[in-house]
Amino acid sequence: MLKKSLAFLFMFILMIALAACGGNEETTDNTGTTDDQTEDTSDNGASEEENAESSGDGGTVEIFSWWTGAGEEDGLLALIDLFEEQHPDITVENAAVAGGAGTNAKAVLATRMQGNDPPSTFQVHGGAELNESWVAADKMEPLNDFYEENDLMDKFPEELIDMVSKDGNIYSVPVNVHRGNVIFYNMEVFEEHGIEVPTTLDEFVDVLAQLDEAGVTPLAMGDKEAWTATQIFENLLLATLGPDDYRALWEGEVGFDDDRVRQAAEYFETILGYVNEDHASRNWQDASQLVGEGEAAMTNMGDWAKGYFSNDLELETNVDFGYFPFPGTTEDFMVITDTFGLPKGVENPDTVKEFLSVLGSVEGQDAFNPLKGSIPARVDADPSNYDEYGTDTMEDFQNNNLAPSLAHGSAASEGYLTKANQEVNIFVTQQNVDQFIEKLQQIAGDL
Ligand code: GAL
Repeated sequence: MLKKSLAFLFMFILMIALAACGGNEETTDNTGTTDDQTEDTSDNGASEEENAESSGDGGTVEIFSWWTGAGEEDGLLALIDLFEEQHPDITVENAAVAGGAGTNAKAVLATRMQGNDPPSTFQVHGGAELNESWVAADKMEPLNDFYEENDLMDKFPEELIDMVSKDGNIYSVPVNVHRGNVIFYNMEVFEEHGIEVPTTLDEFVDVLAQLDEAGVTPLAMGDKEAWTATQIFENLLLATLGPDDYRALWEGEVGFDDDRVRQAAEYFETILGYVNEDHASRNWQDASQLVGEGEAAMTNMGDWAKGYFSNDLELETNVDFGYFPFPGTTEDFMVITDTFGLPKGVENPDTVKEFLSVLGSVEGQDAFNPLKGSIPARVDADPSNYDEYGTDTMEDFQNNNLAPSLAHGSAASEGYLTKANQEVNIFVTQQNVDQFIEKLQQIAGDL
């Protein structure tokens, strides 16, 4: 418990430092245009005063996320449209802060929460990111009554309810389930070089070598933000440890001195020999684009990349791009769930609940997820709204072993994740397995 409190304190200090030095940077998307970090799409550029005037007595709901620009915002905008249709008297402020996996948004959020200026509701991953940070710091309202009133108790799989609950209370509403252990590939490139989909790590390494010999960039990586490399490493850990011991690793029951952790690091080193040279200057969209355009064969990315391929690059599922589970994790599903809750101290909790209720409805989930690349968190959403990627993924989610993602906040505390990202980043540059394992052992105390 003390360890968790210290980790939390550490996280706050770190977040504030991050916010002070980097929180207001602008980011450039892959089209070369510049995105302001904070967007307001609800008002066509109207000022705050004008918004207040036009909002009637319904109030305002400020939605905080990191879904801006390429591949990220389509689902959110569809959800906002639906909400505005149903609640024309409520004004929506889309307070999105750019940066994949919340690289910048989490720092801005920490500053606001610390200053008692919470957004009406914010994107937060189920698991440690919600429970060990905001709930542990007593910053969230329990939503048990909201779940009862909206008849939600049996509408989400138990595993998801667990991920958004602490000590018997429920603290947020899941909007989706993303899968992190996916490899997306360019179908034409695979066909041209006679590549078979690999299912084991050794087959994967063979395929990488085969493509390399053929003069194709085997694997696109964009680790300008370190989490994308952490994501590859966590998938390797899932492959070498298997789902039970992978879980046990984050629970401190399997040590980082385990041979299978070393094996994952060794595979990681091998795989890094097959990535694009400019990986450090690309983000996940830029890396996915290489695959979309046939300049690289594959990329490991959560299935928000599916949204990017379909909506932004206008590619067709199972025609232009294919997908398969990360080799060695064929029966597993790395779960990433985006959820929204009700922070303590917001002025208009009932208005916020109106938004949460749309987000938690079948209609809301079916507006959001087909565009986002994720599957609905609800068990009763309509599969006919999803393409083959979506329906395949829904089936896998039901049948596979579920594993929590480290890179996306579920498996361990934010303090630990920050350190793990740093160590992965150093490993990508130096590729020293012994030193990496030693560091992983050292930071395990922050789990
Ligand atoms: C994840 C988030 C996804 C997607 C991704 C890339 O953390 O859960 O919804 O936004 O980051 O930014």
